Amino acid sequence: MQHATLIAKLNEALGWELRAINMYAHYAANVRGIHRLQLGPMFDSEATESLAHANIVRQSIVKLQGIPVTERAPHPITHTTDYSEMLQFSLETETQAATVYGDVMIQLEEADDQDLKDAIEQIYLAELRSVEELRLLME
Ligand SMILES: [Fe+2]
Repeated sequence: MQHATLIAKLNEALGWELRAINMYAHYAANVRGIHRLQLGPMFDSEATESLAHANIVRQSIVKLQGIPVTERAPHPITHTTDYSEMLQFSLETETQAATVYGDVMIQLEEADDQDLKDAIEQIYLAELRSVEELRLLME
């Protein structure tokens, strides 16, 4: 199949987005204490952002004539009610996602689809911003 490596990488990214949707929704529901006021909405909006990213990546895979994965990345989602652990696991997730999108960007250098490059680059930059934001939140 043409673009096989690119599709495989996009599917890896999609798996991480599907996992992120679950993880952030879980943390939004479970965060306790005074931090719930701010982190509840933040986790909710991260879940929504992951859903939007998943949709873009899924459509890109279909456009490349690949089959999008339906299962999330198998990396476990750890239950906790401790906000600082949630932030730590969020940072790990965003760092992982940024790495995968970085790999996708390299694969995309070969492809001649500017639309696709732009769409994925926007997601990649959003992941980098999330990493930086979480890093600052944890200081
Ligand atoms: Fe994302």
